[in-house]
Amino acid sequence: MNIAFLGYGNVGAPLADHLQRAGHEVTLAAHSAASESVQKALARNASLKVSVPKRAVAAAEVVFLATPFAANETAIASVADEIHGKIIVDCTNPVGPGLTHGLNNALSGSEALQKLAPRSHVVKAFTIYGYENFQDNSFPGYNVKPAMMFCGNDQSAKQTVSRLIADLGWEPLDTGGLEQALHLEHLTLLWIRMVRVHGAPSHMVWAVLRR
Ligand SMILES: NC(=O)c1ccc[n+]([C@@H]2O[C@H](COP(=O)([O-])OP(=O)(O)OC[C@H]3O[C@@H](n4cnc5c(N)ncnc54)[C@H](OP(=O)(O)O)[C@@H]3O)[C@@H](O)[C@H]2O)c1
Repeated sequence: MNIAFLGYGNVGAPLADHLQRAGHEVTLAAHSAASESVQKALARNASLKVSVPKRAVAAAEVVFLATPFAANETAIASVADEIHGKIIVDCTNPVGPGLTHGLNNALSGSEALQKLAPRSHVVKAFTIYGYENFQDNSFPGYNVKPAMMFCGNDQSAKQTVSRLIADLGWEPLDTGGLEQALHLEHLTLLWIRMVRVHGAPSHMVWAVLRR
């Protein structure tokens, strides 16, 4: 699958790396191939492609958005025409002062993103843990896979993202429509507070047991 990345820092770079190694064609959407974040991502995986944002997004079936939440509007505006009809995997989290919800719980970040790209299919995923788990999600000794919760309104887009989640070694867990994004964003805040503030291990993830 042809995948473009808008943003390839702590979160985007390891996801781009692992998706390329899983057999996907992954392109970093870059205004400048010489930028530090491009160079760092290429140092991790020299097989990643680099292209200007409009071209990268136009060629992609799926676009990962892994920018700081405040940069989402600018990032999407730079590819406004090309992103129509594409699946956007929203990896971003609106985090406010004191680790509160950055949009005051009025609207989820993903629903705000959907308004910026109304003809794209937003799926929120890869947000509920710290980036360490995107670098390495192996949990030896357990016979269940770590869960990756996601949500979105378009079933076909969710099926595609679910396959990508599975390709990366997670158990995909569809939590429902995009209205669930607010709750995933709060789950993220819970994880951040437990790990970054209260000292739980950064390789702490959720798993799903069913019967
Ligand atoms: N850090 C975590 O553990 C974690 C976990 C889950 C989700 N998240 C969420 O994931 C997102 C990214 O976090 P991160 O830690 O990966 O941030 P980061 O390391 O600062 O990386 C941000 C990336 O976005 C790019 N960027 C910034 N402004 C941009 C713009 N206007 N247009 C296009 N690209 C732009 C940066 O490129 P330049 O360096 O060239 O500016 C960089 O590649 C955030 O929304 C965060 O809330 C973070």
